[in-house]
Amino acid sequence: MDMTKRPRRLRSIKTLRELVRETRISKASLIYPLFIKEGTGITEEITSMPGQYRYSVERLPTIVDRLLKAGVDKVMLFGIPEDKDALAGGAYAEDGIVQRALLKLKRDYPALYCITDVCLCEYTSHGHCGVLNGHAVDNDKTLPLLAKTALSHVQAGADMVAPSDMMDGRVGQIRRLLDQNGYSDIPIMSYAVKYCSSFYGPFREAAGSAPAFGDRRSYQMDYHNKKEALKEAFLDLEEGADLLMVKPALSYLDVIQTVSSSVNVPVAAYSVSGEYAMVKAAAAAGYIDEAAIICETAASVFRAGADILITYFALEIARYLDEGRIG
Ligand code: PBG
Repeated sequence: MDMTKRPRRLRSIKTLRELVRETRISKASLIYPLFIKEGTGITEEITSMPGQYRYSVERLPTIVDRLLKAGVDKVMLFGIPEDKDALAGGAYAEDGIVQRALLKLKRDYPALYCITDVCLCEYTSHGHCGVLNGHAVDNDKTLPLLAKTALSHVQAGADMVAPSDMMDGRVGQIRRLLDQNGYSDIPIMSYAVKYCSSFYGPFREAAGSAPAFGDRRSYQMDYHNKKEALKEAFLDLEEGADLLMVKPALSYLDVIQTVSSSVNVPVAAYSVSGEYAMVKAAAAAGYIDEAAIICETAASVFRAGADILITYFALEIARYLDEGRIG
């Protein structure tokens, strides 16, 4: 056969396949989301997310020791408070759940890099991400509370803050307040491109943050849109975001690709609770090979252009990297 070009030539052996791999995955680019619940003695499995738990502060070592041993040294903290109110007081309380977790983590684990999710929905009695005015979420009234929340996280030791509320102008407000208080070195990772998604369902069970009425369509993005992703991304960059996030990940690979090729900052993708739940459910039913699917989906997010992956599968991915299943 007279055929000079044979793509299979580079696929013939593992060494060669690894040599010509176009997407490289590293443990350094993984972030693990961590749910911290008020109370003591709590290690509570999340029903819709088997293998994921809510921990009380003093129980955190059970998971943090495993993460660090596996080589995952970055976490994203979510708080689950005991009490909620209309103005989300627990979000910015000095002794709030995230603030107390930070004090412990930064004292006992200096090597752990702690990013905090900055949002009000886990702390409001109505479950919306901002302050209400009637049934509407009031953008401008919410901004100072978000900035206060971010500042209190940083004062408690957060290394980076990640606003996820989707209010207009919040990155700028947070940047200003942090700078005024001497924290100009703390980066902001903006959930810039966050769609209104049913893939957050299990998270809302985990964090008890489902809205009591209505939905989040008036502030999170419509999933039919992609140009709007660039509008959000560029606005947040103007306001001082250091990193941008696209969320969810798997149904939004095109958005990850467009955003990452249009901006000059690192782009993170958040593989959210519903993505995790679907993989676990299908694997439990015996319909898919869990490890293989975890590897393939993680690689697809990086291939689309993400620099960072926030994932509930961080421990598994770290293990598969060690085992050479992906890399
Ligand atoms: C808070 C927040 C949510 C998630 C991250 N931060 C929930 C929401 O917007 O309703 C979702 C994460 C996940 O589903 O894994 N606003």
